[in-house]
Amino acid sequence: MALLEVKDLEVYYGMIQAIKGVSFKVNEGEVVALIGANGAGKTTILHTVTRLLEAKRGSVVFDGKDITKTPAHKIVSMGMAHVPEGRRVFANLSVLQNLKMGAYTRKDKNEIEETLKNIYKRFPRLEERQNQLAGTLSGGEQQMLAMGRALMSHPRIILMDEPFGAVDPLNRANLQNEFLKIQKQLKKTVIFVTHDIDEAMKMGDKIAIMSKGILRNFASPEDTLLSDDEFVKSFLGSETYIKILSRFRVKEHMRPQNGADIPYHADCEANLRDVLAQMIEYGTDSMHVTEKGKITGTILLSDILNLFQKGRKGE
Ligand SMILES: Nc1ncnc2c1ncn2[C@@H]1O[C@H](COP(=O)(O)OP(=O)(O)OP(=O)(O)O)[C@@H](O)[C@H]1O
Ligand SMILES: [Mg+2]
Repeated sequence: MALLEVKDLEVYYGMIQAIKGVSFKVNEGEVVALIGANGAGKTTILHTVTRLLEAKRGSVVFDGKDITKTPAHKIVSMGMAHVPEGRRVFANLSVLQNLKMGAYTRKDKNEIEETLKNIYKRFPRLEERQNQLAGTLSGGEQQMLAMGRALMSHPRIILMDEPFGAVDPLNRANLQNEFLKIQKQLKKTVIFVTHDIDEAMKMGDKIAIMSKGILRNFASPEDTLLSDDEFVKSFLGSETYIKILSRFRVKEHMRPQNGADIPYHADCEANLRDVLAQMIEYGTDSMHVTEKGKITGTILLSDILNLFQKGRKGE
């Protein structure tokens, strides 16, 4: 059973329809990357799920319960944590006090300590600065704190609006990796908004692409990359494919020749992105590999897709 199910959602601001019939399901432990242009409706989706906004039509089901009419104040104790856009921390409280605020719905003292230790281990910067006022932290540190505070409530699902937005590229990669580790360890279900397709591909088990209030894609990164949909293809842009797969050469990933009668050939020096495009075009799941015109091995579609999967997890 899905942990969260959104069905035929329609949301209006006055007369203006911001969400036009969106449906998707999120399974327990999954990370969904929600991406789309400014004004596409990403924040509106998060706000409707967390009940800050009222849906005109459709429903939101969380853990088997219809929460379409549940008051917003009940949402946190039901196990949903929301990290809003623009990192809201309590500026006049210390880092530690902010984190403890996150756990206010919990009574299990020892487990709260455990969670806190875990967060400090992943984000040592927060421990170093635990007595500093949150308002004096840098933008990226505040982002880290907002994320840590959300984890302190021991949520079943975390919804984060552009959590890595204010973070510089080096710390961003670090924060992404640490967050993924925590997510795996605690098996959290996560929906996060991003404007960065590389980030979506790296972090997401599912890529949700919104455009003008419509969900245009909700699929694994692999299926998203292989989508036939013209909108999805143009949204990803050739850059995305190139960055991920053009780093690898066929000769590094081929298998011994399997003797199969395949009519297609790829040069051993070709990169995997080009070969993947050829395979999709030909509709084949394997090709002979040639070196100076001689067949030296076989390249499999499944190996290219596995490699892509590993690449995005940063292995
Ligand atoms: N309070 C509001 N009143 C009226 N219209 C609104 C309001 N909030 C959002 N909208 C409109 O709803 C649409 C979706 O907005 P939303 O904030 O969900 O987009 P978004 O995908 O989060 O964009 P961004 O990437 O810029 O954060 C936009 O056209 C926006 O102008
Ligand atoms: Mg937004």
